[in-house]
Amino acid sequence: MPGRPEKPVRVAATAVQKRSPFTTEGRAALIHSICHIEFNAINLALDAMWRYDGMPEAYYRDWLRVADEEAQHFTLLHAHLQNMGWRYGDFPGHDGLWSMCEKTRDDVLARMALVPRTLEARGLDATPLIQAKLKRVDTPDALRAVEILDIILRDEVGHVAIGNHWYRWLCEREGLDPEATYPELVARYEAPRLKPPFNLEARGRAGFSAEELRVLSAGGKAEKAE
Ligand SMILES: [Fe+2]
Ligand SMILES: [Fe+2]
Repeated sequence: MPGRPEKPVRVAATAVQKRSPFTTEGRAALIHSICHIEFNAINLALDAMWRYDGMPEAYYRDWLRVADEEAQHFTLLHAHLQNMGWRYGDFPGHDGLWSMCEKTRDDVLARMALVPRTLEARGLDATPLIQAKLKRVDTPDALRAVEILDIILRDEVGHVAIGNHWYRWLCEREGLDPEATYPELVARYEAPRLKPPFNLEARGRAGFSAEELRVLSAGGKAEKAE
C-alpha cells in the first residue's frame, strides 16, 4: 500500500457532494476532486511499474513516465487550488480508482484493461464536459482551470495509449482476442459500465480500434459487425 497523507478524509464515492461551479467554493471542490484523482494516479502508475515481473523494459519506462506526468498534473492543479485559497485535503476524497487497482493486483492483463483503458479513458470523456462547464462560468480561475485541463487531456491520451499498447501486447502473448477478452474482464472484475457521451476522437488517438469505437457508439453492446 502506498503512503498517504492524513487528509483528505476518505469517503464513499456516493458521499461526495456535487457543488455548483458557479460559486468559488464549488470550483475549488471541483479542482480538489481532480487533484485527488491525479494524486491517486501517481500511485496507480507506480503500482503498475513495480508490481508486475517479467515485462519488457519499455513497460517499466512507460509507467515511470506516466507517474511523472501525473505528478505534474497534481502540481499544476494544486498550485491553482492554493491560488484560489484552498489546499489539498480541504475537501473529502473517494477511493474509486484505488479499489480497481487492488482487485487487479494479481493480473497485469486485467490491470491494463481496467485501469488505463477503462478508468483513465473515462477521463478523456469527462474532461471536455468539465471544460465546457468552466467556460460558461468564465471567471479567470475557471479559464485557468480550462488551460490546465488541456494539458492533462493531452497527456492522458498518451496514458491510455500506453494502456492500449500493453493490453494488446499481453493479449498477443497469451493468444487472446483483445476485443473479445475485454468484456470478459469487465464482467469478472465488476468494472464500472461506460456511459456516453464518449470522446471518440481522443479515444481514437489513444489507440482504441475502429471496432471498439463502433461498439461504444452503438451503446456498449459487444456484438461484432457482420
Ligand atoms: Fe493525470
Ligand atoms: Fe493518467
